[in-house]
Amino acid sequence: MNLKNFFVRKETGNLAELMEEGVPYHVAVIMDGNGRWAKKRGLPRIAGHRAGMESVKSITRAADEIGIRILTLYAFSTENWKRPVQEVDFLMRLPQEFLLMELDTLIKKNVRLQILGDVSALPSHTRESVLEAVDKTASNTGMLLNIALNYGSRAELLAAIKQIAADVRSGSLTIDQINEEAVNSRLLTRGIPDPDLLIRTSGELRLSNFLLWQCAYTELWFTDVLWPDFTKEHFYEAIRAYQKRGRRFGGLK
Ligand code: FPP
Repeated sequence: MNLKNFFVRKETGNLAELMEEGVPYHVAVIMDGNGRWAKKRGLPRIAGHRAGMESVKSITRAADEIGIRILTLYAFSTENWKRPVQEVDFLMRLPQEFLLMELDTLIKKNVRLQILGDVSALPSHTRESVLEAVDKTASNTGMLLNIALNYGSRAELLAAIKQIAADVRSGSLTIDQINEEAVNSRLLTRGIPDPDLLIRTSGELRLSNFLLWQCAYTELWFTDVLWPDFTKEHFYEAIRAYQKRGRRFGGLK
């Protein structure tokens, strides 16, 4: 180790080491456990979602600080509409609240915001605020922050399949041209490399209809920590675990 690295390490401790090892390019997160966090405290579920928004802020900043290029957060699934109407209403207000507090910082940090999901079905106040933020950050060149809102992987795949069928029928695509690239280019994540690491909080061990096609070779990391309790340190722990994995993508080392 040269002297310069020695001093950098001394000043910033493990963080510099973590960055030196190379951070994943794309991290996806299933932010789970807000309801249980609230229940444990005798609070309404919505209090858990509000606390969860604080974790969204801190993890977005942490990801940007360590040089992650794409952060994808699962904020609302196509199945979450089944929840009580008051909870859905609250969840639909959170993106606005988040953007009111954070948009200036995101712009300052050169972060680009993108929404994954069917925005047409969102309440107009939610849709307008997120689309305005997407617009205002469109030319930013730093970290891409994807918020999956009214997102479902099966709905995304069905739409891609229908598009492929229509393209075959119109003659712009032949059956032989249907390959991984043809599918990728028709997904909501078109142009975005697959996640390298997927984190799920709260102890649940499933994908819950999140990025099913895209996670074919993603490294999965689970923790019992509930999302509102999930700190930068937990995030770094996940990155360190990722750095120790041997990725072979089905091949041999
Ligand atoms: C899952 O926990 C969490 C959600 C369905 C909502 C996640 C939303 C946030 C963290 C806030 C998002 C804010 C922005 C700005 C993107 P759960 O309610 O299913 O928890 P439980 O399993 O303990 O009930």
